[in-house]
Amino acid sequence: MPGAAVRAGVVDAALPIPALAEALNGPVSARPRDPGPSLWPDDAVPPVVGDPDADDWTQLLDRVRLLAGLDMGGYKPDTLWRRVQRRLQTLHLPHLRAYLAYGDRHPQEWHVLQHLFLVSYSVFFRDRAVFQVVWAALRERVRALPASAPIRLWVPGCARGEEAYTFAIMLVELLGEAEAAARVSIWGTDLNAEALAQARSGRYRRSALREVEAPLVERHFDAFDGEFQVRPALQACCRFEQRNVFDPVEPAAFDMVSCRNVLIYLKPEWQARLLLQLHRALRPDGLLLVAPVESVETDGVRLFTALDRDHRLYRRRERGHSPTPME
Ligand SMILES: C[S@@+](CC[C@H](N)C(=O)[O-])C[C@H]1O[C@@H](n2cnc3c(N)ncnc32)[C@H](O)[C@@H]1O
Repeated sequence: MPGAAVRAGVVDAALPIPALAEALNGPVSARPRDPGPSLWPDDAVPPVVGDPDADDWTQLLDRVRLLAGLDMGGYKPDTLWRRVQRRLQTLHLPHLRAYLAYGDRHPQEWHVLQHLFLVSYSVFFRDRAVFQVVWAALRERVRALPASAPIRLWVPGCARGEEAYTFAIMLVELLGEAEAAARVSIWGTDLNAEALAQARSGRYRRSALREVEAPLVERHFDAFDGEFQVRPALQACCRFEQRNVFDPVEPAAFDMVSCRNVLIYLKPEWQARLLLQLHRALRPDGLLLVAPVESVETDGVRLFTALDRDHRLYRRRERGHSPTPME
């Protein structure tokens, strides 16, 4: 964990214990003028308030796009700015222009910032009541398919894999291990390479399983040293790939797409673009799940019909929707 935190760039200082104690207790006057990695906790530094300068903001987005490969132009600027403000505070920098100069001296910073934007938090069966509804819908979908027909799911923004494995648990429960291995393919995609590495390893802390009922934990995980490893039957159903959710995907390929807590970060026009992408990816009558805080209706365009609006479960709409300008 400490190593992972340092690599993620969220650590202010990595020091031997005596030096760490000294750094935490050190006099305020001893703080360096030129920031470099900061030695002091965030709350010792006043936050940077107000809106960013528009030109500096554009320069920041350009640097992250060119040097770290993430186009953040489609994300809600308020969320991004809050993360940058926090980073300025950590680095003891007075404003965005100073941060740009800092990043130019330490280009790795743009990767750190990209990482801070991609919040890869998740847990198994996140919003448990939602998954009871989804489980029933999946059962119906599986029954409606010809015996032995493949069952394909896509989980864009899968983070560390918990959501993809949640679907694997439900499908192994519905079909049994052998049939699931033969028929089920769950494709988890995300931009965050570290999160995907954990997804592939299939190893989790107990806290990630807090919404999972005990009998399911018993059947689908092995406990090791206080951590939990998903069983091979789940891993056989899932594969993980680093991809941008906007990269083209095979049309009409999936029985279900679960894209949760990704739309929420996007500007409305990019939400519309993403919904179109998800619609294209689904087979006729395919199912779409988004998070309880998210909506699939943008500018009166209805690409999906609600199966259970409260739990944000939808079915692909085949006809009668008005096209968006991006269509
Ligand atoms: C908050 S997590 C959601 C995890 C999981 N879907 C859930 O709801 O529990 C959001 C994930 O979306 C990923 N993400 C954000 N923008 C993305 C993009 N353009 N393409 C692919 N993944 C993206 C982030 O890396 C992060 O892992």
